[in-house]
Amino acid sequence: MAHFEKAKSIHDWLDQRLAIDKVNKVMQTEYWIPKNINFLWAMGMVLVITFMMLLVSGIFLLMYYQPNIATAFDSVNYTIMREVEFGWLWRHVHAVAASVVFLIIYIHMFTGIYYGSYKKGREMIWISGMLLFVAFSAEAFSGYMLPWGQMSYWAGMVITNLFSLGSLEMNGIVEWIRGDYVPAQAFLTRFFMLHVLLVPLAIMALIGIHFAALRIPHVNNQDGDEFDYDEESAKYLAGDTKGSKVIRFANDFLSKDLFVVAVYLIFFFYLVFWNYGFAMDPVNFDPADGLKTPAHIYPEWYFLWSYEILRPFSKDIGLMAFGFAQVIFVLLPFLDRSPNVAPANRRGPFAIWFWLMIVDLIALTAMGKLPPEGIFSTIGLYAAVTFIALWVALPFITMMEKKK
Ligand code: HEM
Repeated sequence: MAHFEKAKSIHDWLDQRLAIDKVNKVMQTEYWIPKNINFLWAMGMVLVITFMMLLVSGIFLLMYYQPNIATAFDSVNYTIMREVEFGWLWRHVHAVAASVVFLIIYIHMFTGIYYGSYKKGREMIWISGMLLFVAFSAEAFSGYMLPWGQMSYWAGMVITNLFSLGSLEMNGIVEWIRGDYVPAQAFLTRFFMLHVLLVPLAIMALIGIHFAALRIPHVNNQDGDEFDYDEESAKYLAGDTKGSKVIRFANDFLSKDLFVVAVYLIFFFYLVFWNYGFAMDPVNFDPADGLKTPAHIYPEWYFLWSYEILRPFSKDIGLMAFGFAQVIFVLLPFLDRSPNVAPANRRGPFAIWFWLMIVDLIALTAMGKLPPEGIFSTIGLYAAVTFIALWVALPFITMMEKKK
């Protein structure tokens, strides 16, 4: 066994057993962050805080929610919203956070794409990030089932139907996923388990992997500069804090992160208290009814772009296009063939690709919410084809890019 001395303080006692000073250095005071990064690099911390709010509000909701098809709707809309003191507050925090988290995820993702933060040694940050996106999508979808309203039921029906794989008609898989012919008690119970246990555990593990993946390559910066971190940190530690290109994570960079988090929380609680309606679909305030299909079934705003890639095509092609849209972002580090790590505006044609992609995703999102009729379905079709064409073009555009 290691040699232990009589401790001089509680700190010393803990340090001998847990090496807390070393951990503090590695994780905080000597975790080096480039100086040339802007507020967009605080989105990771904003995501951590939003996830924590989802966890805490979810725990409070769990104390009154009942995962039973006869009582689930009332336990949310009556017990939590009216009977329990401040139940409405926890529900609004949970619903708003569930929606806003996707806004921040998209900003975080597109910051990474704009600055090329998925390249050269940063592939694992990107891949673990995309797995987090998938896990958050599963978390949002399973949570949407729980109030057992009309949209819960019918969105559950539509999405699980996709697993029949179009003309292959593999209905056995759909029944296996539902545990029944239609969404019913077995369905609600398993989605409840996924939402409160399995998927949150996966998210926590993935956040750990995402952070570990940041350790060696460090975060990128807004000029795509490559630093010698040993040299720059040595300068900092020798007292040349001005000349060094890096700062400590804590408390230096952390204080900037927390400033952005504070501004974000003002916006967040403004939504919670005055504008929570956008996070709750009015149709979901009607209890689930398997005999009454809503006139228009659509997902929450953050899934609309991929839903619109599914819709304008025939059944099988739509399903293939949808499958393509789900996986293609993961492959970005391998489809971008240019070695340049630089902001998109310094990368020639890639800048056009980037902005076209943003406009296309906004067009798909807008069309996804509208009924698939007339001009809307034509725009939707063009936008879906453009999405696929942009991805097919990416390797060629980036291959032609001049090496910097
Ligand atoms: C919700 C879960 C997520 C959390 C908590 C999270 C957290 C973080 C944190 C704290 C950082 C470092 C600081 C920063 O750049 O903001 C980071 C960096 C990064 N994340 Fe995430 N992230 C999440 C999801 C994602 C997703 C969905 C992607 C997209 C694929 C992604 C891709 C990246 C990339 C590429 C970087 C490196 C940025 C750079 O080097 O400049 N993350 N993440």
